Amino acid sequence: MSGLFDLDGEVGVVTGALGKLGPIWVETLLEAGARVLALDRPGQPASAEFKRVQARFGPERLQADCADVCSRPELEAALARCREAFGPPSVLVNNAGIDAPPAAGGKRFRLEEIPLDVNLRILEVNAAGLFLVTQVFGAAMAANRRGAIINIGSLYASVSPDARFYDHIPGDPPFIKPPAYGASKAAVVNLTKYLAAHLAPHGVRVNALSPGGVLGGQDEEFQRKFCARVPLGRMATDEDLRGPLLFLASPASAYVTGINLKVDGGFTLW
Ligand SMILES: NC(=O)c1ccc[n+]([C@@H]2O[C@H](COP(=O)([O-])OP(=O)(O)OC[C@H]3O[C@@H](n4cnc5c(N)ncnc54)[C@H](O)[C@@H]3O)[C@@H](O)[C@H]2O)c1
Repeated sequence: MSGLFDLDGEVGVVTGALGKLGPIWVETLLEAGARVLALDRPGQPASAEFKRVQARFGPERLQADCADVCSRPELEAALARCREAFGPPSVLVNNAGIDAPPAAGGKRFRLEEIPLDVNLRILEVNAAGLFLVTQVFGAAMAANRRGAIINIGSLYASVSPDARFYDHIPGDPPFIKPPAYGASKAAVVNLTKYLAAHLAPHGVRVNALSPGGVLGGQDEEFQRKFCARVPLGRMATDEDLRGPLLFLASPASAYVTGINLKVDGGFTLW
């Protein structure tokens, strides 16, 4: 068993690192022995959770940096700083993404009125941005002939959001999840297969990890309705995500590439 889940000497890069799930991925890689470059868009403040991880590991192991996933020059500059600080990247977690949860309080639209640019922006960041990051960092891994890339998908890559989860939330028009969100995540799963096929001859594995709903401030009625739809009967916790990430990042999954590992308590089974 020893060494199977070991990331000693590895250099991890995590995008969208300052959000809700980012610190979980960052801390998991650090705990397994990697050094990590944590990327987020310029100006994004560090969350309390990220600061806790920073204080725990210090700058020798973890550095925060910025790059917009839609900007090739910013990504190339971040890659250069990664090489300088830690060496060539060998694990990439493509986590940056945009959604529009009800708590964000964004402008609501009826289905037929959703502006084209709202849909395009979600597709741009979640799918095209992920591809761009992989072009830049994946090429560096391929040149080094080793690497593991983990693309963060979603349960909504596989199924449509159930609008009834939100029908207790007051307001007109009613809240609906943006249609481009699931479409972008389905694209992530398909891009994962494409990239896995292209990078396999260069020693780089590419897999998707698709979380279900992760517990974090959702209202009680939403939680009740959501959990009733989950075979395991609950939402995901932060702890549920760590093992699957470590599996895909480490030698434990050396012969696994192109899969979508669903970490959704069985949500998408029925
Ligand atoms: N939280 C969940 O329940 C859940 C469930 C399934 C999938 N996911 C996916 O997990 C990932 C992380 O989700 P989260 O809940 O932490 O979201 P979040 O909004 O808390 O964090 C996303 C991060 O991405 C960054 N980001 C957005 N646009 C960017 C850009 N153009 N360039 C660089 N960084 C950018 C944001 O600044 C933010 O820090 C997303 O891809 C999301 O779709 C989340």
